[in-house]
Amino acid sequence: MMKIGIVGLGFVGLSLTSVLSAKGYDVVGIDVDKEKCEKILNGVTPFYEPGLEKILKNGLKKKLRISNNFSSIKNCNLIFVTVGTPQNVNGTIDLSIIKKAISTIGKNLQKNKNNPIILIKSTVVPGTMKKVIRPILENNSKKKAGKDFGLISNPEFLQESNAVNDTKFPHAVVLGGFQTKFMTKAKKIFEKLHPNTPIVVTNHQTAEMIKYANNSFLATKISFINQLSSICQKIPGANVDDIAKTMGLDPRIGKLFLNAGPGYGGSCLPKDMKALISFANSSGVRPTLLDAVENINTKQLDQIISITKQRLGDLTSKRITVLGTAFKPDTDDIRDSIAIKLIKKLLKRKAKITIHDPKAIKNTKDVFGDKIRYGKSINDALEKSHCVIIMTQWKQYEKINNKEFNHMTKKLVIDCRRMLLGKRLDVDYFAIGLGKEK
Ligand code: UGA
Repeated sequence: MMKIGIVGLGFVGLSLTSVLSAKGYDVVGIDVDKEKCEKILNGVTPFYEPGLEKILKNGLKKKLRISNNFSSIKNCNLIFVTVGTPQNVNGTIDLSIIKKAISTIGKNLQKNKNNPIILIKSTVVPGTMKKVIRPILENNSKKKAGKDFGLISNPEFLQESNAVNDTKFPHAVVLGGFQTKFMTKAKKIFEKLHPNTPIVVTNHQTAEMIKYANNSFLATKISFINQLSSICQKIPGANVDDIAKTMGLDPRIGKLFLNAGPGYGGSCLPKDMKALISFANSSGVRPTLLDAVENINTKQLDQIISITKQRLGDLTSKRITVLGTAFKPDTDDIRDSIAIKLIKKLLKRKAKITIHDPKAIKNTKDVFGDKIRYGKSINDALEKSHCVIIMTQWKQYEKINNKEFNHMTKKLVIDCRRMLLGKRLDVDYFAIGLGKEK
């Protein structure tokens, strides 16, 4: 039976590990973090992701093993690399984690007699496979890619908060590499795993670029609608959602990723945009469109601060409530969350911040400690506040009404997601993407 090794147990790696092992595959999940491995072995996911814990537990009842020892890959036939590729301070991609993981895999490859296929899922800039990953693997293993082992770029498209479903049913499978026997075998494996999913076979550098193409286009869609939303704000009565909904009916456009808001955040879109921009610049192409997409994203946040200042004046000692710090609903992830950036800016202006989030309090505490207050409930978070800013579209915020706002001292409501639109609110209401009627 085929043995599968998965290196790096973050969102992508742990979702894949759980889904494949629950299906009955013989899987070993590997991560250098011993504590994390122990948690996972106990059926606990290190982050919140709907449905993941249940499916992990199913896997653990079957053949799943979790280890911090890379030597477990020596019997594997398929090895997925799913470690993180964060960004350097200057925006370029930081390959140190993947380089380290790959060199350890290479050393262990020496003992592997199975001629395994290594699939790189981590997002890497075009050329990384050829210039970095392949040489490190070959040097450390003393083996040749394409002959002794297969090497395939296999970018991942899963979205946090929908990770289990996206892992089970990806919209496409991309296999980038040389047309060897390993590629033929990989294609067969994926055809069996995802029978109705298009499989795109291409070369390494194109596969690497596809990932950036997707994420930068998604960011472009968001900045596009955010730009329109700023224009709408100048047209009394205009509503960006009706515009987005209608645009979405045009099959050439599609309805997804046209929700105007405070800008895109999270661990992928901002980082991949930066990496692609710096890659383009270093290749001699000025990425004017991508630059504009980023600028619009920054402006969305600045706009929230200016509305707040316009209505409250000097922000020193003003009590501001931020609803939602997770970068999107149904996750506790706050990496590159716009809400976190907003709080940092408000603290600089000496405002007093209270936050509420259904899942991300712990992660938010790790950033701000006692510099801000943590509301025990929505009501508690609104108590004596001068202004509330709705940042993340958690379902529970839809229910907020005058009763809750009565806890506030001054009722300024800035709704970045238009969640309360259409309610008769006895407050000073601002919504991103809505032209305020005079
Ligand atoms: C993103 C991509 O959607 C995935 O396909 C990709 O696999 C992943 O990055 C990755 O590279 O690993 P994710 O980071 O989970 O997934 O988050 P998204 O759902 O894309 O949301 C990103 C941000 O855009 C959030 O801050 C969200 O609030 C914002 N957004 C999204 C909007 O403001 N409007 C929209 O219409 C959609």
